[in-house]
Amino acid sequence: MSAVALVVAAGRGERLGSPGPKAFVMCGGRPMLEWSIAALKAVPEIGHIVVALPAGVEAPVGTTGVVGGDERSHSVRAALHHTLAGDPVLVHDAARPLVTPAIIRATLAGLDPQADAAIAAARVTDTIKEGDRGTVVRTLDRDRLWAIQTPQVFRREVLERALAQPHEVLAAATDDASLVEQMGGVVRLVESPRENLKITTPDDLRLAESLLAARRT
Ligand code: CTP
Ligand code: MG
Repeated sequence: MSAVALVVAAGRGERLGSPGPKAFVMCGGRPMLEWSIAALKAVPEIGHIVVALPAGVEAPVGTTGVVGGDERSHSVRAALHHTLAGDPVLVHDAARPLVTPAIIRATLAGLDPQADAAIAAARVTDTIKEGDRGTVVRTLDRDRLWAIQTPQVFRREVLERALAQPHEVLAAATDDASLVEQMGGVVRLVESPRENLKITTPDDLRLAESLLAARRT
């Protein structure tokens, strides 16, 4: 198997409030993106890494850079269209620098013959309630809830079809797997540690810094 990895790093990071693009903010002594690239490079099943980047930014060593799009899914599509081969296709957010080779390999292994996709996900520990204008509507059954992460692994043909949907459909999707779900695809959940968090706000960045520092000791 030679999988291809697409890393999306073209976002602005508005909620982080950093001066430059989020993927290049320093985190644990390196630009955030470099952690994900190092983890992907350590996975023998991955043959090629394509990174969607802001315009004018150089790709990390050993990867191919493409210019990303206005929405996350457009960046995924730009990277996918740059690769002619490679199946399955793994999609990863540069905003998750705590990903490990073990998480990546487990997600790849989760794509069984009957599945269209396999996605890293953490069990939810909070009680989750649905609300409407400040009032509880219902309490969801926590045992069935998963907090979805990346990596997400897709059969190439499935991801191509998912990303061929109209602009509004893509813009409304917060992850790629939901596009596959809407098409009736089979998406497997691969249990992953909560530590594989997404950096959105300054406190996420502080937490990631301390988790990365703890790994070194
Ligand atoms: N991303 C991308 N292209 C976009 C938007 C997002 O490649 N047009 C990438 C980001 O670089 C990030 C991942 O998608 O690695 C998840 O997006 P998010 O966490 O929302 O990052 P940003 O869009 O950069 O942050 P914000 O929404 O706060 O501006
Ligand atoms: Mg965003």
